[in-house]
Amino acid sequence: MAQRVRKAIFPVGGLGTRFLPATKAMPKEMLPIVDKPLIQYAVEEAAAAGIEEFIFVTGRNKHAIEDHFDRSFELEANLEQRGQGELLAAIRDCVPSDTRLAYTRQGQALGLGHAVWCARGLVGDEPFAVLLADDLIQSETPCLKQMIEAHAPLGGNLVATMEVARAHTPNYGVIAPGATRDRLIEVKGLVEKPKPDLAPSNLAVIGRYILQPEVFSHLDRQQVGAGGEIQLTDALASLIGAQPFYALRFAGRRFDCGSKIGFLEANLAFALERADLGTEFRRLLRQYADAGAR
Ligand code: UTP
Repeated sequence: MAQRVRKAIFPVGGLGTRFLPATKAMPKEMLPIVDKPLIQYAVEEAAAAGIEEFIFVTGRNKHAIEDHFDRSFELEANLEQRGQGELLAAIRDCVPSDTRLAYTRQGQALGLGHAVWCARGLVGDEPFAVLLADDLIQSETPCLKQMIEAHAPLGGNLVATMEVARAHTPNYGVIAPGATRDRLIEVKGLVEKPKPDLAPSNLAVIGRYILQPEVFSHLDRQQVGAGGEIQLTDALASLIGAQPFYALRFAGRRFDCGSKIGFLEANLAFALERADLGTEFRRLLRQYADAGAR
């Protein structure tokens, strides 16, 4: 059995340029899907997968995330006074206990690989998870839980994957697949942002990873890759052959909330699922669809 995965890194240091001006003064991971910030969905997913330590790699606008996961005594007192118990529980429940949270700073947004490297001291010498909050996954079993269960008998490294249209491979890290068993695919190679005709498959890496600490030795070199950024994919590629490396075709639906369309679609999908909003929202959608058809 593999060593238990206890720690998760949440890189939230990106510039979020696709969402400017919304992200001018706050990280894009604080954008809400219905009424919950993206980062909270990711933290809840990690907690449901048994993660015990939550490590945030923050950038220039770090305060919003720290404040979000901090107790807010004034707000709590206010809600209590007004008898708004449900809201009170909602804001209390979103906070894992202080002892389980750690923050570190990425001085400059040099890329995802660099953000992960910034957390090396907090991770130490054990396997860890990485969750990109802007990849939001709607699923019966939380995606990271599916991954931890698949990883337990295998050890090594495991990334989440899904099929994408070939034309979209330049937006992703792409897998060169080996043997496949059910949802598990052996990873023989990884290429960051390949052109469609050069992509080894249409299996894209999605923002969920279980990694071995050896990845930090490669990231130590601070090698610049595609787009002039220090890429996590390049460091992962260096582990292939040296350690077991698999991809899991997870069960669920992923929304790319780093893009406007993906973000809007996620709001749609999550709002439709809500008991308190679904009916009214569906009625509104019909109204808009009818108006569009006219
Ligand atoms: P993206 O590639 O979506 O980049 O990052 P971005 O800067 O956040 O957004 P755009 O493209 O300018 O709109 C993927 C994930 O990696 C994190 C981001 O916060 C996001 O969760 N990231 C990226 C960092 O933490 N640091 C970086 O230097 C780059």
